[in-house]
Amino acid sequence: MKFFVDTANLDQISEAKDLGILDGVTTNPSLMAKEGIVGRENILKHYKMITEIVSGDVSAEVISTDFDGMVREGKELAAIAPNIVVKVPMIKDGVKAISWFTQNNIKTNCTLIFSAGQALLAAKAGATYLSPFIGRVDDTSWDGIDLIHDIAHMYQTQGFMTEILAASIRSPKHIVQAAQAGADVVTCPLKSILGLLNHPLTDIGLAKFLADHNKAEAAVG
Ligand code: E4P
Repeated sequence: MKFFVDTANLDQISEAKDLGILDGVTTNPSLMAKEGIVGRENILKHYKMITEIVSGDVSAEVISTDFDGMVREGKELAAIAPNIVVKVPMIKDGVKAISWFTQNNIKTNCTLIFSAGQALLAAKAGATYLSPFIGRVDDTSWDGIDLIHDIAHMYQTQGFMTEILAASIRSPKHIVQAAQAGADVVTCPLKSILGLLNHPLTDIGLAKFLADHNKAEAAVG
């Protein structure tokens, strides 16, 4: 399973890269706004900086909601670097735009996925990645991990090549559950990735190893 970091923060992207386990980056308009990146030129420059840090896929989302606008924006984004993936919302014109990008060899990430039916349409249109928002599904009375499981089963049964990119991850446990349910990729805040490190028995065990080592060294020297 691939690990993407879900942020537009350059320091966090670099820190995740330094861990040696980073395969890519996802952003969205909210994450860009959080970093104070406004204005088309600044947005394009910021994406360029991200692609210079990370060699894996970087999702950059269109703002337009009509077919012509999405194609125009997507072409501009894809021209930034070969590892840009155009992120397109799951709406009628979005499906049409994904189909156009697929035919023109531009990678896509279909975002705002909340049902298996939406996942089926995105795969039919040829999306490279599909982003089910598991945390936001959990915020309702539905189950985000069940959604990943259902989509993984459907894609496997039908032979679709679209990669399931579990998004809206809220915890380290979500990462493990998404992996178990068949996600190809998880995108998450750096904090959730770092949370995978934690276990109290690891800390206790390491402290004991070091104490025993130091005691033995002191006894001979
Ligand atoms: C990434 O592709 C999504 O836009 C992101 O994971 C959404 O996360 P949120 O639900 O925490 O905003």
